[in-house]
Amino acid sequence: MKDIENLKSEFESEISNASSQEALQNIKSKYLGKNGLITKLLKGIKDIPPQERKDYGRKVNELKAFIETHLREKQEYLKEKEIENKLKKEWIDLTVPVKPVFGSLHPITQTLERILGIFRGMGFSIEEGPEIELEDYNFDKLNIPQDHPARDMQDTFYVNKEGYLLRTHTSPVQIRTMLSKSPPIQMVAPGKVYRRDDDPTHSPMFHQVEGLVVNEYANFRHMKFVIEEFLREFFQTQLPVRFRTSYFPFTEPSAEVDIGCVICGAKGCRVCKDTGWLEVMGCGMVHPNVLESCGVDTEVYQGFAFGMGVERLAMLLYGIDNIKLFYENDIRFLRQF
Ligand code: DAH
Repeated sequence: MKDIENLKSEFESEISNASSQEALQNIKSKYLGKNGLITKLLKGIKDIPPQERKDYGRKVNELKAFIETHLREKQEYLKEKEIENKLKKEWIDLTVPVKPVFGSLHPITQTLERILGIFRGMGFSIEEGPEIELEDYNFDKLNIPQDHPARDMQDTFYVNKEGYLLRTHTSPVQIRTMLSKSPPIQMVAPGKVYRRDDDPTHSPMFHQVEGLVVNEYANFRHMKFVIEEFLREFFQTQLPVRFRTSYFPFTEPSAEVDIGCVICGAKGCRVCKDTGWLEVMGCGMVHPNVLESCGVDTEVYQGFAFGMGVERLAMLLYGIDNIKLFYENDIRFLRQF
């Protein structure tokens, strides 16, 4: 009986000192293993005087149960501790700033973001359309007649699927937006466009940003305000701006927007061909035929639209005289942005 008591206190001190699964395993085999102390006590029961056996057996079994329970509890405790330590050790601080990225955004990307940022600030949504476009959206629904020269193979890249082409402008996104949303619409659409053109100021692929506003009261003065505000923001200065009468099949009336030449300060140079003015975009009131081709009720709604070339604006902003520089990926050029 004395041995049982001693064994219990021995176990108690050992288990409270155990700090690893391994130590627990050792204690377990010391007491409960094949040659363990408890196992031995149970085996020794036959040497106990018969009148004491019952009491002895109960005591040993109680101690055995005591040891088993405490081993299990301690094991669970250590497991939790282990997970806790692991979480503490392997913790990752997701708020640590990343190392600065080398390089910079392409000047065209920077210019696009500059343009879109200004319109986003004026409450315009940003829409997109595919570069392989339906001829119907690129031309027909924009009121561009079958015999219009822009449709000529000389100007347009056709793909070998009837009715499709590489869009020649971002204006078909006007159509897509009006077909999928109802007014009020106030959107800009950036993207790549393609034309059979190739010289120092024209590239077969370039970027445009289209704008479209359709609501119950849009008028020419709203359009002037939006475009003048945009140009002031874009060039970060109050440049002279003029709206010159022009013609586009999808607008009536139509205008081209000129700014005072930023290269020569409107004195006259090669870039402005000595006129002091630079053309930067086309615009106008959306032709009723275009609204109707998209199911917009012209008794209720009217709209204005505009379209600009991103490379042209970037060339003027940065003073670049050859469009090819944007596509050659010459590191000496790109490093400057
Ligand atoms: N799509 C014309 C072009 O590529 C640009 C343009 C002119 C867009 C007038 C417009 C507009 O939305 O109203 O030359």
